[in-house]
Amino acid sequence: MKKILVSTGGGDCPGLNAVIRGIVKRAAAEKDWEVWGSFEAFNGLMEEPARIIKLDDHVTAGIHVLGGTILGTTNKGNPLNFPEHQPDGSIKEVNRIPLLVERIKLLGFDAVINIGGDGSQAISQAMLEAGMPVVGVPKTIDNDLSSTDFTFGFLTAVQTATDSFDRLVTTATSHHRVMIMEVMGRNAGWIALYTAIAGGAEVCLIPEIPYDLDAIVKKIKNRYTDGRGFANIVIAEGAHAKEGDFTSSKGEEGRIAVRLGGVAYTLSQQLKDAGVEADIRETVLGHTQRGGTPVSYDRVIASVFGVKAFELVLEKKFGQLVVLRNNDFTSVSIKEAISAYNVIGLNNTLLHAARGMGISFGD
Ligand code: F6P
Repeated sequence: MKKILVSTGGGDCPGLNAVIRGIVKRAAAEKDWEVWGSFEAFNGLMEEPARIIKLDDHVTAGIHVLGGTILGTTNKGNPLNFPEHQPDGSIKEVNRIPLLVERIKLLGFDAVINIGGDGSQAISQAMLEAGMPVVGVPKTIDNDLSSTDFTFGFLTAVQTATDSFDRLVTTATSHHRVMIMEVMGRNAGWIALYTAIAGGAEVCLIPEIPYDLDAIVKKIKNRYTDGRGFANIVIAEGAHAKEGDFTSSKGEEGRIAVRLGGVAYTLSQQLKDAGVEADIRETVLGHTQRGGTPVSYDRVIASVFGVKAFELVLEKKFGQLVVLRNNDFTSVSIKEAISAYNVIGLNNTLLHAARGMGISFGD
């Protein structure tokens, strides 16, 4: 039997389980392949004894409808800069990739399918360069990977945000309030832009367009003078004023310098200071966008990615990332995929259409 190791790394997102199930189902048709999973990304595999599980139809039955990942995931213990305790009590970051590859081979695995975002795919590339046959599957709710039209999980996050937005509209209308809803996305405004169009926001603030407070105040005031008497704003966590900085708190040692979040409150205060008299309320959606059952299209993308990833292994096309491009499932080199970050271009068609519908981007 030949053996594949599957890992889910980085932040979770809806659809991870559907990818795992897609891999297992496709592998079952080949008879001579076993699929195994490592718990909490590659951390489980590095433990003694290894925390790994054989994935078969019994383990994966029905999991495509579940959020999260049955393998668990982690943002900690990145093998590229693994925090190693030194004899003097200090911590030194070491490259544990050679050790990881050695361990995977020692356990008899022929190939790895690594499901993760840009950080995880940088690990895939390093493993590949260290001699491990790897195929990547792109995941993130942020949709910020450059080589694919969509990462799975994104559309579910947009649906969750849109559902919340719709609820906020009715309460904004009843109370004549300004509602600010903050969504995730890191330095990309995709979730905000899609939600603003789907929900019908008056204002959408994204990291790609630093906002001018006066423009937003003007838009809000118009909403009150034209008789509507309420306004709904979607703001991405990475948005900031032209002269301002990101709203963030301290990140985690050895992982991220800052954690984005709370810009809804920053904007609320800025609007009050700028003379907006209406009541303003803030909602930060946070991790609700990462949880729950994937919407049908995310299940489709994730399942097909799983099948395709296994087939790339069969064809020995290693170092490839499965992607969705122009409605076709194909693959690109992982190296190419991680070389650029997918943010909203200023000439983007959706951005243009949103402006055409009167959505203000605060510029
Ligand atoms: O990348 C996905 C994401 O949810 C971002 O939108 C957000 O900034 C970040 O992860 C939050 O990460 P954590 O899991 O550390 O809270």
